[in-house]
Amino acid sequence: MLEGLSTEEIIGRGKNVVMNTYGRLPMTLVKGDGVWVWDTEGKRYLDFLTGLAVNSLGHNYPAIVQAIQAQAQEIIHTSNIYWIPNQVALAERLVKNSFADKVFFCNSGAEANESAIKLARKYAKKNFGAYKCEVVSLENSFHGRTLATLTLTGQTKYQEGYDPLPVGFSYAALNDIEGLKAKIGENTAAVFIEPIQGEGGVIPAEIEFLQAARALCDQYGALLIFDEVQCGVGRTGKLFAYEWSGVAPDVMTLAKALGGGVPIGAMLATDKVAQAFQPGDHASTFGGNPLATAAGCAVLDVILNEGFFEGVQERSAYFQKGLEQLASKYQTGDPVRGRGFILGWPVSKLGPEIVEVCRQKGLLINCVGGKILRFLPPLIVEKPEIDKALGILDEVFQELWQ
Ligand SMILES: Cc1ncc(COP(=O)(O)O)c(C=O)c1O
Repeated sequence: MLEGLSTEEIIGRGKNVVMNTYGRLPMTLVKGDGVWVWDTEGKRYLDFLTGLAVNSLGHNYPAIVQAIQAQAQEIIHTSNIYWIPNQVALAERLVKNSFADKVFFCNSGAEANESAIKLARKYAKKNFGAYKCEVVSLENSFHGRTLATLTLTGQTKYQEGYDPLPVGFSYAALNDIEGLKAKIGENTAAVFIEPIQGEGGVIPAEIEFLQAARALCDQYGALLIFDEVQCGVGRTGKLFAYEWSGVAPDVMTLAKALGGGVPIGAMLATDKVAQAFQPGDHASTFGGNPLATAAGCAVLDVILNEGFFEGVQERSAYFQKGLEQLASKYQTGDPVRGRGFILGWPVSKLGPEIVEVCRQKGLLINCVGGKILRFLPPLIVEKPEIDKALGILDEVFQELWQ
């Protein structure tokens, strides 16, 4: 589509007809293979951003392509009016490998969180009473862009201009146990936590904080909900990030990497909690359709292969060490943080400039909050490509950092 047009021509036409909601880079990506992507002009980039933690198996992973092709030839969409075999198969894989007993499928992270808010309120009302409806989330969190999920998001910049916002939301500081205690009470229906805040700057929740949140939720009959939209599905080197802490939630939301690039979201819950939803209580036309869940099954089949996560842990530790060496070489300040292949490198200055020069040199990364370089490489990335990325970063810092 739009073959033969230059990048400038495509952008020019796009500005005429596509709504202006994104601060986009002046480039288009039209082809991918493994850890590499190509733009319209044929320039090749090492993709250490993976469409914001979506293409976790890299681009055009054969088993994913094959699953999508095969399913498209059979049937792409039916409806949740009927049972969908692939949806059952994907739910079985998720349930078998998590704390959860039941899954609701949707199409995005925001929609998964919206579902979780609704389930938590329904559960609280059915089991306690109408008074129990408040939702606590964390400052600096990110949970999505629908009206309820941007209210759940603990950053006012996403909320400005959209008043009146839904009511019943409040915020506590990450890793501040006393602060969290002060926010949770009899009226609390749910507490939302990203085990690693992604958009907020790659900030991990401490184990003690997660344990305290679990204990407080148990004390007050509130649901502990983990948003693993960005950090889940293998990104940290385990299937789910919560597994590192030993703290299991009551509900968890997923999206991004779950479909290998095909839009899908999921909300997982224990049986006890899931029972609060009955037919007609919640729905999504596309949710868990045959195509998306075929892709989801293929993704899980790859990453659940024996040895896959050990490989991710080993190669991500290698990458993190390389970043730490650069951080120390250039004295950039705060330590590199995160886990597995969701890593943040705090730089006190020049974040956007570093990202831009990396791009010019063929490495795609981004910068969150203006000063945290964020790395979300494909889980399949190998050491030679990691070395290449580290080499480009070294060159860029050599040029820009003083
Ligand atoms: C932790 C987290 N939750 C929710 C979302 C929203 O997901 P989506 O953009 O698919 O609605 C994101 C997106 O970046 C996210 O990082």
